Amino acid sequence: MLPQRKHWHSMGKGLVLGVLLTSFMLLLYSYAAPPLNVGVAERVPASSSCPSSPVRPPANTTGRSCRPKLDVVFMKTHKTASSTILNILFRFGQKHGLRFAFPNGRNDFDYPSFFERTQVQDYRPGACFNIICNHMRFRYDEVRGLVAPDAAFVTVLRDPAHLFESSFHYFGPVVPLTWKLAGEDKLADFLRDPRRAYDPDGFNAHYLHNLLFFDLGYDNELEPDGPRVTEHILEVERRFDLVMLQEYFDESLVLLRELLCWELEDVLYFKLNARRASAVPRLSGELYRRATDWNALDARLYGHFNATFWRKVEAFGWERMAREVAALRRENERLRSICIDGGRAVDAAAIQDSSMQPWQPLGAKSILGYNLKKRIGQRHRQLCRKMLTPEIQYLTDLGVNLWVTKLWSRIREFLRW
Ligand SMILES: *[C@@H]1O[C@H](CO)[C@@H](O)[C@H](O)[C@H]1NC(C)=O
Ligand SMILES: *[C@@H]1O[C@H](CO)[C@@H](O)[C@H](O)[C@H]1NC(C)=O
Repeated sequence: MLPQRKHWHSMGKGLVLGVLLTSFMLLLYSYAAPPLNVGVAERVPASSSCPSSPVRPPANTTGRSCRPKLDVVFMKTHKTASSTILNILFRFGQKHGLRFAFPNGRNDFDYPSFFERTQVQDYRPGACFNIICNHMRFRYDEVRGLVAPDAAFVTVLRDPAHLFESSFHYFGPVVPLTWKLAGEDKLADFLRDPRRAYDPDGFNAHYLHNLLFFDLGYDNELEPDGPRVTEHILEVERRFDLVMLQEYFDESLVLLRELLCWELEDVLYFKLNARRASAVPRLSGELYRRATDWNALDARLYGHFNATFWRKVEAFGWERMAREVAALRRENERLRSICIDGGRAVDAAAIQDSSMQPWQPLGAKSILGYNLKKRIGQRHRQLCRKMLTPEIQYLTDLGVNLWVTKLWSRIREFLRW
């Protein structure tokens, strides 16, 4: 066959398959979603009727005087290193026997639909939870009613140009409007004239426009200089106790630990779900500028919280921050040498244990994973395994029913997608 014809042939095949699978998944998702019958009587006000966590004796091992906070809402944004934070929360919840509000059937709360408390597995009216951390489109009132009044609300943001690039790479294949983009570099083609390429009503289109604003529950198509944008940003500031930044991840975790009064061990981590370096193109100056302009709402959001972040560091103390970051890195390094075979992340093909395989984007195996060391001392064996377990497997270990996600994974295996 001529290369050109072959190209069209495979593209056509991809298109048909894509459409079929998309409709199939939509159908499945609508089955998995609970019926939308939240009665009027059940709509309790935004204030929470959940009890505050019982007062536990303060952990005195470090001589700290605060009590570890057990109630946390983590608004998990997309493509912001949030999977790494999820692992931290899973471990902490397990260690203290806390109650998670998990989704039912899949690993998110019917995203991109708004969060509803009825989406929570085993939800009953009046139910209370300690930790909520899976992907959702945020709806404050619905979340608020599920946790104690003093629960900490935290989230994480990332420079919107880089977030856009990452989202474009990861979700592009499931956003039909990218299929008609030309050339090797679809991202550059898109950014040449985003208004022409983009359709706000397109399936999954939100992944390509102000995704942070969308995830936080706001309209991602607002005019960037409108007054509502400022209102929304200030609302995020009121509702969240801490807004972390992916670019300053270790500093963020130090602030998180301070807010929650956790042990250093609780916030140790290995980077999960990272892309192979060769699969991460650097955005050129011009593309960076265009990506920022295109995601102007997120840029305003990020600008605001970049400023508040450094004010928090200032209040925390620069020297103290430097010390704590150094301690965190030292401990992470120590564990790296204890836990990880070869000391670093590897390609999917090189991962020996299937329970350590991370979820991959459609049509690419660009996400790295880890091999556990063969010989790990008794003291660290459990911790190492937990720290390296990818999200889907960890959710399964925590007893979450993931039948939709797993079925989808089987289909992909079958089609070698
Ligand atoms: C907790 O730690 C402080 C400071 O290290 C110490 O003075 C105090 O006696 C300890 N309290 C308990 C209950 O062990
Ligand atoms: C965030 O703030 C820091 C410190 O003010 C600044 O150096 C950096 O350029 C800002 N980042 C972005 C993406 O605006």
